[in-house]
Amino acid sequence: MKILITGASRGIGFFLMQKFLSERQQVYGTYNTTNPSVEFKKHLSKVDISDHEQVVNWVNSIVSANDEIIVVNCAGNNYNAVAHKADIQKWKKVIDVNLVGSFNMINAVLPYMREKAYGRIINFSSIVAQKGIPGTSAYAASKAALWGMTKSIAAENARKGITINNLNLGYFDIGMITEVPEDILTHIKKTIPVQELGNPENIFNAVKFIIHADYLTGTSLDINGGLF
Ligand SMILES: NC(=O)c1ccc[n+]([C@@H]2O[C@H](COP(=O)([O-])OP(=O)(O)OC[C@H]3O[C@@H](n4cnc5c(N)ncnc54)[C@H](OP(=O)(O)O)[C@@H]3O)[C@@H](O)[C@H]2O)c1
Repeated sequence: MKILITGASRGIGFFLMQKFLSERQQVYGTYNTTNPSVEFKKHLSKVDISDHEQVVNWVNSIVSANDEIIVVNCAGNNYNAVAHKADIQKWKKVIDVNLVGSFNMINAVLPYMREKAYGRIINFSSIVAQKGIPGTSAYAASKAALWGMTKSIAAENARKGITINNLNLGYFDIGMITEVPEDILTHIKKTIPVQELGNPENIFNAVKFIIHADYLTGTSLDINGGLF
């Protein structure tokens, strides 16, 4: 089994890579702008996920027809701006990474998965797409689009042993959340029924559940401490 994790240079992707490596799995990750430490260099390749050619070349360099492949589409970025003041290039960049980047990976791995009649694709969506939060139109649009894309691709590949699902994450104590100012974070925590940020172990457990659940496809798991 080969586990391909995009955005494995830091945050959730890095956490998942470490967890799978500790289980002695074959893990291949990507970084883009964060240079990996010496310890993890051999597991990481430089790939801009929004560039289709780079993604295809990376996948082709790792995967062969006989491999069982798991894809964890974790790479993501964010741009906060109210719509009437948004910079259109920055807005589009979020779509290019979060939506098109995920699709680039899917497009590159599906021929191998269909040949092998096995595959797992896990996309990363967000509670932000489920709520109307001012300033998040690019991020929310990119993450909501994953739901429709996932259903369509699930139906196309359901008879091929391939599942594709999303994790709709709430607020986790890792990664992007560290950029949120302390006062806003305090407010966010109060709105979560569990009253605390999520432990990333939950994400690892969910990824493993999806890997083992062959009847789960085209859907999303909400992991958010009861927040809606
Ligand atoms: N943390 C949360 O609470 C939370 C909540 C909801 C959803 N999510 C989702 O979970 C995923 C991981 O989030 P995170 O918090 O771990 O984010 P993060 O700490 O900001 O890390 C983002 C990762 O994405 C990579 N990346 C960004 N642009 C890229 C590009 N063009 N090509 C390749 N890689 C690129 C980064 O690589 P470099 O640094 O090497 O450029 C980095 O490894 C994201 O999809 C995010 O939307 C997170």
